[in-house]
Amino acid sequence: MLSDKLKIVAVVGARPNFMKIAPLARELAKYPERFEFVLVHTGQHYDSLMNDVFFSELGIPAPDIHLGVGSGSQTQQTARIMLEFEKALTEITPHVVVVLGDVNSTIAAALVAVKLGIAVAHVEAGLRSHDRRMPEEINRIVTDALSDILYTPSRLADSNLLSEGVPPRKISLVGNIMIDSLIGFLEQAGKRKIVEQLGLTPRGYGLVTLHRPSNVDNREVLAGIVEALLEISVQLPLVFPVHPRTVKMLSEFALDTKLEQAGGIRMIEPVGYLDILCLMKSARLAISDSGGIQEETTYLGIPCITLRQNTERPETILEGTNTLAGHDRELIVRLARQAIDGGGKSGGNLEFWDGAVAARIVEDLEKRRDWLISSPDERVDRAAIQVDPNLT
Ligand code: UD1
Repeated sequence: MLSDKLKIVAVVGARPNFMKIAPLARELAKYPERFEFVLVHTGQHYDSLMNDVFFSELGIPAPDIHLGVGSGSQTQQTARIMLEFEKALTEITPHVVVVLGDVNSTIAAALVAVKLGIAVAHVEAGLRSHDRRMPEEINRIVTDALSDILYTPSRLADSNLLSEGVPPRKISLVGNIMIDSLIGFLEQAGKRKIVEQLGLTPRGYGLVTLHRPSNVDNREVLAGIVEALLEISVQLPLVFPVHPRTVKMLSEFALDTKLEQAGGIRMIEPVGYLDILCLMKSARLAISDSGGIQEETTYLGIPCITLRQNTERPETILEGTNTLAGHDRELIVRLARQAIDGGGKSGGNLEFWDGAVAARIVEDLEKRRDWLISSPDERVDRAAIQVDPNLT
């Protein structure tokens, strides 16, 4: 007989959170007698194309609470989420707060929860790019340092955490949860008609996505990437769903007309989950600075040229289809030509990319139930020096 339902709050805010929460929400919903699940949306991403379409396609339950924080500087956004989330959490009083990935909503929610004495579980823990210029790297380091349970996607992530002194009992290697969504929706994505609708043919185009501040907020860097895309598009048509940040910066730097007028480049609005999977699956190659696309292309066996100097997902380079190109124009073009002519790197079957990650997380939460339900005083870190009982 279960004494209590385990009350779980999960926090999402930005696009890459949605494909990670979907399988977990679905798995938890199978056991309503064991878990109470409350979904909080911070409102970090609010446009329908960045947000609503993912909820409907991935079957994510409508958020129980919406914090509506919107955009702002890194600090403003994080602080606003903290202020609003504290109010919500004080009302809900869950046993555990689940945060996902490395976005501002992740760090903000973890910080509030831990300060209220609520346990934190981080899904996709242990990733490190070792580049502290990236806002996401700061979010990863801080969130992992605060979390009581670290659900890691790989052995490399485990070793990152262990080398930072995280006690092994906090770490559970469960695998890559985003691949649960990919496996679950691949068939449906294959039926989408977006490739034909854009007048493209399977393997006859490249997929481009771009949004990192390090690539789009600096004119010189963005101009170099635009030049590389223009050059590649002469040989291979490119489809480019443009992130709102990138739309803004392309226009501010007056680089948008050049791209729009290029015959080989189709600039479109951000697409939903099924369409991006469909576009990725049939592409000849992907050129991107996304975190998730590095992994999804590896799973799908599509060569990926990553426009970053480093990656927190090195397995995709060592065992997958990913190659780092930074923002070096010539290298981007050369790698694209290699992929067009020779097929590029081939994919790999990575450990724990098996579609059963959410089930392993739920099993682990169940194992930790008693500990999670115990009071914050009982959950004090075992490493803490306690009052000597002989003195009291
Ligand atoms: C965030 C994440 C990043 C993730 C990306 C995916 C952080 C630090 N970064 O970056 O890890 O890869 O999401 O998209 O959390 N905007 C809109 N509509 C929206 C959302 C944003 O127009 O629905 C605009 C904002 O006004 C802002 C810009 O896009 O100017 C950036 O949004 P923000 O959430 O700050 O970061 P992302 O660059 O999307």
